[in-house]
Amino acid sequence: TRWATHGKVTEENAHPHLDNQNSVTLVHNGIIENSESLRNELLSQGVVFLSETDTEVLSHLIGLNYSLTHDPLKAVTQSLLKIHGTFGIVVMFKEHPDMLIAARFGSPLIIGVGESEALIASDLQALVSHTKRVIYMEDLNIAVVKANEVELARFDGAKLPTKLEFIESNYVQAELKGFPHFLLKEIHDQPKSIDACLAGRLNLGEGTTKLGGANMNNYQWNNTKQVVTIGAGTGYHAGMITAMVVEQIAGIPARAELAVDLNSRRLIPDRHAAYLAFSQSGETADLISIVKELTIKGCNVFGIVNVISSSLARLCKKGIYVHAGTEVAVASTKAYTAMITTGIMIALKLGRGRHLSIYEGKNIITELRKIPEKMEEYLKSPGDISEIAEVLSKANYIFFIGRGFSYPVALEGALKFKEESYIPCDGYHAGEMKHGSIALIEKDTPVVVIIPSDQEKSKTLISIAEAQARGAKIIAIHTKGDKEVEKLVDYSIVIPETIEILTPLLTSLPVQLLSYYGACVVNADPDKPRNLAKSVTVA
Ligand code: AGP
Repeated sequence: TRWATHGKVTEENAHPHLDNQNSVTLVHNGIIENSESLRNELLSQGVVFLSETDTEVLSHLIGLNYSLTHDPLKAVTQSLLKIHGTFGIVVMFKEHPDMLIAARFGSPLIIGVGESEALIASDLQALVSHTKRVIYMEDLNIAVVKANEVELARFDGAKLPTKLEFIESNYVQAELKGFPHFLLKEIHDQPKSIDACLAGRLNLGEGTTKLGGANMNNYQWNNTKQVVTIGAGTGYHAGMITAMVVEQIAGIPARAELAVDLNSRRLIPDRHAAYLAFSQSGETADLISIVKELTIKGCNVFGIVNVISSSLARLCKKGIYVHAGTEVAVASTKAYTAMITTGIMIALKLGRGRHLSIYEGKNIITELRKIPEKMEEYLKSPGDISEIAEVLSKANYIFFIGRGFSYPVALEGALKFKEESYIPCDGYHAGEMKHGSIALIEKDTPVVVIIPSDQEKSKTLISIAEAQARGAKIIAIHTKGDKEVEKLVDYSIVIPETIEILTPLLTSLPVQLLSYYGACVVNADPDKPRNLAKSVTVA
């Protein structure tokens, strides 16, 4: 599969792309922003294009430069200097079958060093089954790669030392372990991944957390005046929950930002703020570009990342790995709950340096430790998920609603469900429906309501009544034993009880499962939803 920036998903548009002499073969990850003008220039020189991609422009440029210089390295470098945009490329020359040229700017590229072989990939996951020895290419690096030799240089020709790094031995290639799909397996991995995320980081005695990777002393933690979370998609939702928990238990201003939006606004850097960049892959281009900007402006940026040694982790130099383990399915599940867990641990650390008492800190830790067991309990009897997914799959449109800590879960539920089942749906703050979107409710419109027994419950009940008055079918995700909600609704999904700030860790599980079964009902591939990529490395 390929994630298209230009042209439809067709054989012609799929990589690799060749020049007209078939002397150069190229694969490219990224985007060439000036491809239209280059294409016109090349067309006027008689070049014939076989695809609609931006990449093909580069194959022709390299081919033409090579026909003039007969020097592969020069041909690639000269061509890249004409490109505006981002790239991780690998080029092969017909006349030099023993080598590959790799170059990077803005898109990840890793060289794997094996036994008498070398490999090049944009993701560690592709390399682990071949070798544990890797060289991470940096921006504006170009490499000549042979079976037994890697030469690294900058675009200006200056030679660079090759720094061999070792992939951690616990970084293993993911396996299905008897599950039919990775998505289902990864949903079921969550009790273990939360355990791994918490391991060694809780200090029950003092009701606080130890977050070594953040590289901050107590003075720095206590002088953090603001928290800004940044992310894309699911990472943004994990950031929203984190910001709410920080406000609630640390009592300092916190806000969640969409990486792509922050990129297009005037940045007002706050050097007393902690900027938390949330990402499963650590390769999301929108996030990386704003993190670079914040770093240049002297801000304190932390990567809250799953993939070890990813571009974001390396860029931030400090942060916290969420340790969810390899996530294969495009839809993020276990990395999302591990990101929330990490956010809660940060909030706890910040809170304990301020007004949060040791008693409250201990209580949060005690409840946090019970989460894996409660996840297990839920996953053992998840409710009538496949039957409900069947109902949802017949709808033209679905609402996901929630308040307080359940509002980001509603957004996440809708994102996940549409990503998996292709059925239109949106997440709303339950109290916001009445300002317009309630107009979409008609007889039998499904409304998935996230309503754990928390401070917001009574108000969410009003939203249920409003939706029912207009004919909606209510599917409620609520706390075990809540007969009031159970009696009121059409379908009820029951989660174990926990404290308010931790409810997203449990209420997120049923929405993930609904999405999985949603994909199955409509015969979509749960692991590879259409039009999407696991790492979105183009901005
Ligand atoms: C989640 O299910 C999506 N596939 C998507 O929203 C994803 O969370 C987003 O692209 C950000 O990715 P990241 O966490 O790897 O940065």
